[in-house]
Amino acid sequence: MTDKRLTGRGAIVTGGALGIGGATARKLATEGAKVLIVDVEEDAAEANAQRITDAGGTAVAMTGDVSQEQVAKEMVERAVHEFGRLDIMVQNAYGGGNDRAGSAVEVKPESWRSGMDLLVTALYLGAKYGVPAMEESGSAPGFNTGSWTGAGLRHGDAPKMNVGRIVNLSSVHGLLQAPRSLIYEAGKAAVIGLTRQMAVDFGPLGITVNAIAPGHIVTERGEAMWGEVGNEPGFKLFELQYPVRRTGVPDDIAAGIAFLCSDEASFITGVVLPIDGGLSIQLQENIVMDTKDFIVENPGLKTHFDQGRGTSRR
Ligand SMILES: NC(=O)c1ccc[n+]([C@@H]2O[C@H](COP(=O)([O-])OP(=O)(O)OC[C@H]3O[C@@H](n4cnc5c(N)ncnc54)[C@H](O)[C@@H]3O)[C@@H](O)[C@H]2O)c1
Repeated sequence: MTDKRLTGRGAIVTGGALGIGGATARKLATEGAKVLIVDVEEDAAEANAQRITDAGGTAVAMTGDVSQEQVAKEMVERAVHEFGRLDIMVQNAYGGGNDRAGSAVEVKPESWRSGMDLLVTALYLGAKYGVPAMEESGSAPGFNTGSWTGAGLRHGDAPKMNVGRIVNLSSVHGLLQAPRSLIYEAGKAAVIGLTRQMAVDFGPLGITVNAIAPGHIVTERGEAMWGEVGNEPGFKLFELQYPVRRTGVPDDIAAGIAFLCSDEASFITGVVLPIDGGLSIQLQENIVMDTKDFIVENPGLKTHFDQGRGTSRR
């Protein structure tokens, strides 16, 4: 039986056409939310919305670059227009460019600015326009106000509703640094600071704000990339670095996001939830020693790093 935890809630998922965002849009819809997918990929966004509709859910697609203020404003207006309310924002969109790799000496100022526009500014803009709309939406259908105790209250009254949810996509790259990845690593670390700040600012409004730090998630694009690499030991090396001995899939992240959006998570705010199979909790020297034999046994081993597409060369 499907537990519909989000019935009647209005949601926006940026970058909701493909990958983690695509799976999240489907998961939120399965839980009863009405979902606006905002993405630069028009056809893929429409296709995912159709997939959700075909499965009995509610979803609408909108094309736009969420780093643009006008798009951030329009997506909020569109969600309120379509669904009558806004409760959930999953700020997930990202598309890397070849110009994003490098250290501070190497990256160009224009690459830094465009990278930060999408990694960080887009999330600020989403909240700037989304939070007032969430406030105006009031208590969501199905939310039991009688169960709200105001636990943790320090000043003033408890929020009248505690259903607003912002989930920002950070990364294990926001927690740990890879070489020559200034823009992505600094951007994803900034997402964590921005999340904590918003949690403090918007908690009294009944809105929780959390971040997810995924490990290596094999999305549609990821599958295509590993297909190009075409080297089974290379992928196995990635899996070996995870205590759970596998890399992730988009549904792993979507499940965590859906939980953070549910009533069950109303007392969780300002956290960074790693969903990474334990990748980020290990001592690095042990990982190297654990994988050394495998690398020696597979001298032809290749990963996307060998194609200049690894994080360290992003
Ligand atoms: N896949 C991973 O291993 C991984 C790991 C850690 C964090 N993340 C983060 O998770 C998020 C999703 O990553 P993914 O791997 O699913 O990516 P993806 O490339 O599979 O999907 C990203 C989606 O965002 C859209 N998009 C790109 N630029 C956009 C823009 N300016 N405006 C609107 N939409 C835009 C793309 O069209 C695509 O549909 C990103 O924030 C990424 O940094 C991914």
